[in-house]
Amino acid sequence: MKFTHNNLQKIYDNISKDLSSSYEDIKQKYLGKNGELTLALAEIANLPKEQKATYGKEVNNLKTYILENLEKKQNDKNTYSTKKRIDPTAPFDVNTNKEQRPKIFDVKGSKHPLNREVEKLIGIFQNMGFDVLESRQIDNDYHMFESLNFPQGHPARDSYDTFWTEDGFVLPAHTSTMQNRAMKKFGPPPIAVVIPGRCYRNEATDASHEHTFYQIEGVYVDKNISVANMKATIKTFLERYLETELEVRMQPSFFPFTEPDCEFVISCPFCKKAGCSVCGNSGWIEIMGCGMIHPNVLKEAGIDSEEFSGFAWGFGVDRLTMIKLAISDVRFLREANLNFLRQF
Ligand code: DAH
Repeated sequence: MKFTHNNLQKIYDNISKDLSSSYEDIKQKYLGKNGELTLALAEIANLPKEQKATYGKEVNNLKTYILENLEKKQNDKNTYSTKKRIDPTAPFDVNTNKEQRPKIFDVKGSKHPLNREVEKLIGIFQNMGFDVLESRQIDNDYHMFESLNFPQGHPARDSYDTFWTEDGFVLPAHTSTMQNRAMKKFGPPPIAVVIPGRCYRNEATDASHEHTFYQIEGVYVDKNISVANMKATIKTFLERYLETELEVRMQPSFFPFTEPDCEFVISCPFCKKAGCSVCGNSGWIEIMGCGMIHPNVLKEAGIDSEEFSGFAWGFGVDRLTMIKLAISDVRFLREANLNFLRQF
């Protein structure tokens, strides 16, 4: 707003600066008994006749402007409490600014190395065209055993000793519990899915065993799938993750849910078979279990095993992470030790 009368211009300039003051202060300063606007209004009586009209108009504009701003202040006062904020969940007074808060709360969080590696591993499979399905942390006997071709009383059930609830639910000992669900969900073939998940085993812990760990399961089903496809897929994945060329070996093993069953073994990515502490001087590291999906497992998921075949694998993320990041004890991964975690 522009005023031809200097005293009015001055009041206008002042009030613009005073807008952050309280409602009461502004009212007192401008509209009080000796308020600046009150005095400016009285001034009209002393003006020469020819100036009265323009002055009267301008002083009224100014009054409207001040009243509008006071009204706005009043509304704000009704809308926003002027009381101090209280946040009982904040470990500091939320009315303080950042500089006044304790420095300890300034630390930035970061992802746990295991979560970061799971994301990387899944990312590689996604680039290879795999879907992703998350595993469950509580499951039942059917998915843990029956659907995987371990009938009641099968001795191989003993190799998957885990924790059971009193109602007969199970904390899965492996992510293979998801095979049946994955094939039903993504079928009919072609099916290409990876399943990350938390697994549990009832075992004493040591440098290479934990009661809780992550696995990533893979399931691939289509027409004419052979061991050659399995070997190429797993090798490609491992070379991408470990960022080096590998020699691979498949050695016989036993799983009720595959036929044939293999252990997938790689040449040590660190010493290239010369022998070092990571590979226990053998030059080779056993990385995962895998095999061609057993016809009974395909049938149980509603897939015709005459028409389709497939392969599956399951590996421990903790173990692979330990190899990649040269971690010597699996238990470090679950201790909330910042000195350890900050290295990654
Ligand atoms: N579930 C097995 C384990 O934890 C690993 C495994 C072996 C998974 C063969 C598979 C597979 O999908 O085909 O010991």
